[in-house]
Amino acid sequence: MADVAGLPHILGEKLYLVLPTIVALLALIIVPRVFAKDPLKHIPDVGQELGSDEKRRQAFLMDSRHLYQEGYQKFKDGVFKLLTTRTTTPVVVVAPRYLNELKKLPDDVLSFDAAIAETMHVKYTQIEPGNKSIPHAIKTSLTPSLPRLSPPLTDEARESFNMEMPPCDNWTPVNINRILLRVVAMVSGRIFIGPDLCRSEEYLDAAINYTIEVMMARGEVDAMPAWKRPFLARSLPAVKRLEARIKQAHAFMQPVVEARKRLPADQKPDDMLQWLMESQQKFGDDNSVEKLARLQLGLSFAAIHTTTMTATNAFYNLAAYPHLIPILRDEIVSVLSEHNGEMSAPALQAMKKLDSFLKETLRFHPPGTGSFSRKVLKPFNLSSGEYIPKGVVIEVPAHAIARDPEVFVNPDEFDGLRFYNIRQEAREKGEAEAAAQNQFVSVSQSSLTFGYGRHACPGRFLAANEIKMIVATAVMMFDMKLEDGAEGRYANFEFGGTSAPDPSKTLRFKRFAQ
Ligand code: HEM
Ligand SMILES: *[C@@H]1O[C@H](CO)[C@@H](O)[C@H](O)[C@H]1NC(C)=O
Ligand SMILES: *[C@@H]1O[C@H](CO)[C@@H](O)[C@H](O)[C@H]1NC(C)=O
Ligand SMILES: *[C@@H]1O[C@H](CO)[C@@H](O)[C@H](O)[C@H]1NC(C)=O
Repeated sequence: MADVAGLPHILGEKLYLVLPTIVALLALIIVPRVFAKDPLKHIPDVGQELGSDEKRRQAFLMDSRHLYQEGYQKFKDGVFKLLTTRTTTPVVVVAPRYLNELKKLPDDVLSFDAAIAETMHVKYTQIEPGNKSIPHAIKTSLTPSLPRLSPPLTDEARESFNMEMPPCDNWTPVNINRILLRVVAMVSGRIFIGPDLCRSEEYLDAAINYTIEVMMARGEVDAMPAWKRPFLARSLPAVKRLEARIKQAHAFMQPVVEARKRLPADQKPDDMLQWLMESQQKFGDDNSVEKLARLQLGLSFAAIHTTTMTATNAFYNLAAYPHLIPILRDEIVSVLSEHNGEMSAPALQAMKKLDSFLKETLRFHPPGTGSFSRKVLKPFNLSSGEYIPKGVVIEVPAHAIARDPEVFVNPDEFDGLRFYNIRQEAREKGEAEAAAQNQFVSVSQSSLTFGYGRHACPGRFLAANEIKMIVATAVMMFDMKLEDGAEGRYANFEFGGTSAPDPSKTLRFKRFAQ
């Protein structure tokens, strides 16, 4: 009895000894939970009314466009957060007015590479986005070479397009997406890897299928619970297939690279493979064939499907708004007649209606709802005082901006000559800068399809040239229309913040008699 009665007393007496331990244990359990949620607590949510986290993630998968639009309208000058399937923490969506201050933050605060590492599971897919040699070689060698290399690129565009298209003497159904994948891979390959390899089936298979295989591997890793990944993700079938792909690319590039190393200096080819070999050497980097194969695959990953999707969207728009075809054709014919019939860089530059049509295609059918995806490596405050914690991924709601009536007149209408008219008006008013800001390749707070700031797509100048060469070639050769019975422009597939033209659709093509 006394013993039992004495227990509380003894405990009470000793409590001061164990109390710190208990408090510390509780703190270990509770505090991280409170703080793990806290850093984002001050940022308003979108989609709260949908209910559970699971339901909100599903809404992101199925209809992210409306979530971004809702948030953008509600918090126009501020920030909101959004649960996604791509990131472990909610994405913090930031209004475009902050882009100016955000682009000045260094890479160790806002990281492009770390955002890709997280959203693409780079640890397992091993894609090479962070390898500075790619953007460096594009900026210092590839883009400046475009005027010099436009004759072979135009040849490649015309020949490959002719090779892949059926005759179309009568209205013929054509899966243009499938053809564009091969044409874009060949034209890009002409400048990436040279004329010997760019039409080989081995190169085409790798250039086209690698991206699909990466996306499949990413999907399989996504589906695996995070704690299992370090043990099991490397043996997933889709992840293993990527290793086989690298070995295959290594094997077919080996003889080409060896032959190039033996060439005298004045006979070196004028292409990306050569520039990469030279820059790797200059920086004392690993110049092995395997490394070069990985870089080539990384380049294909960045270039082939992005360019093909944009070109496919453009063809679907031509067929859906056929009144544009004769307008563009007249411009192309008249520009070519002033440029010796050659699609030189200045000729492509002079096709302003074509440029406008393609820019409107990017505005209307961007490949993603968000842009400027960056991971926060060090916390910072926005100029409004809003605290952005470490560890989250931030984004700008690019698509919602592109459909904002305060930014674009009649934003939900596809107007192929929208940017042509904006440029003409600006020129008439003597606003040279406004005229220059509305080109296909321009990047601004209202044109975010190529990203923004230091990491904005360096390949957009090549993409612009390729797409113009291909569309101009097609418009000179064919009339095109939607399949009979189609109800307007084919809808894009939208899934998890991405948008792609439906690859199963066909258009009707008929050879155009001049
Ligand atoms: C219409 C076609 C294309 C679209 C829509 C597109 C879009 C993008 C976007 C949105 C980014 C991220 C920019 C940012 O977050 O600020 C990017 C980056 C990049 N793109 Fe493109 N791209 C296209 C074509 C190409 C082509 C043809 C190439 C190769 C020649 C290329 C190479 C790259 C590279 C290397 C990066 C990473 C830049 C860095 O690490 O700083 N892209 N692209
Ligand atoms: C880029 O290439 C260099 C040298 O080839 C390599 O050491 C480095 O790990 C690569 N970086 C990334 C992020 O892949
Ligand atoms: C690459 O993709 C094409 C078209 O989808 C397919 O026919 C081909 O078999 C693929 N090649 C490999 C090696 O997977
Ligand atoms: C953000 O602002 C708060 C005050 O509002 C300040 O205490 C904090 O140090 C700032 N954080 C950073 C990273 O600048």
